[in-house]
Amino acid sequence: MTDISDDAKRNREEWTRSNAAYTDATASSTWAAEEITWGVFGIPETPLGTLGDVEGLDVVELGCGTAYVSAWLARRGARPVGVDVTPAQLDTARRCQREFGIEFPLVEASAEDVPLPAESFDLAVSEYGAVIWCDPYRWIPEAHRLLRPGGRLWFLRNSTLSILCAPDEGAPTAELIRPQHGLGRLEWPGELGVEWQLPHGELFRLLRETGFDVIDLVELYAPKDAVDHSFYEGFSVEWSRKWPAEEIWVARKR
Ligand SMILES: C[S@@+](CC[C@H](N)C(=O)[O-])C[C@H]1O[C@@H](n2cnc3c(N)ncnc32)[C@H](O)[C@@H]1O
Repeated sequence: MTDISDDAKRNREEWTRSNAAYTDATASSTWAAEEITWGVFGIPETPLGTLGDVEGLDVVELGCGTAYVSAWLARRGARPVGVDVTPAQLDTARRCQREFGIEFPLVEASAEDVPLPAESFDLAVSEYGAVIWCDPYRWIPEAHRLLRPGGRLWFLRNSTLSILCAPDEGAPTAELIRPQHGLGRLEWPGELGVEWQLPHGELFRLLRETGFDVIDLVELYAPKDAVDHSFYEGFSVEWSRKWPAEEIWVARKR
């Protein structure tokens, strides 16, 4: 692997710990899911239609983790390649590949500098992967390089509003706690990893200037029947019924 940024090294360490703490234990059940669902509240993809038909598409998942999204897409006829910086996460992905009999390439690399050829994919996806953990001024141009003209970039992240309302610890509140001006690289107290959250205006502009057209932006709220989820403590149902907890962006390479 080529040299990676100091932030990528920190995130690799964080995700080596998280893999041992919980992701290795939960990966099989996520791989097994028949339905594609998104985010904390498991919102089904089918009525949203953010991905479209993936049959026959070359897909790169940037920050694939245990690669269950790639597995879901492979079952629907896509040809995924997973990219992740953390060997432990890729080991879990390989174990799940054997368990479920779904094989696809896995590449150990930072999504800020991917050792794959330009214009070799139709779809680049990141579900809480590169979109959270990588410098957007590096990974979004990398996604653009990897995509063929007309190819789509799809990502799911926390909503900007949830970050503005988030205290240093615990779920978002009904108060604007942190300024939007200057929002970007985030270091949460007590966390080793480094996260990113660009506000909508800056992200929109970065996508446009990189050579993408934004074609969809879906804000995800807690559904009526949602119950508080013990695994992700980041959101309460009550908050997330009033404000979007997460958001899906889709952009097309010009
Ligand atoms: C929440 S997981 C998201 C992936 C997947 N959807 C999952 O839940 O397993 C975050 C992943 O981002 C990866 N990651 C963090 N920094 C990265 C970087 N610079 N390049 C590639 N992957 C990175 C971590 O190793 C981790 O596997």
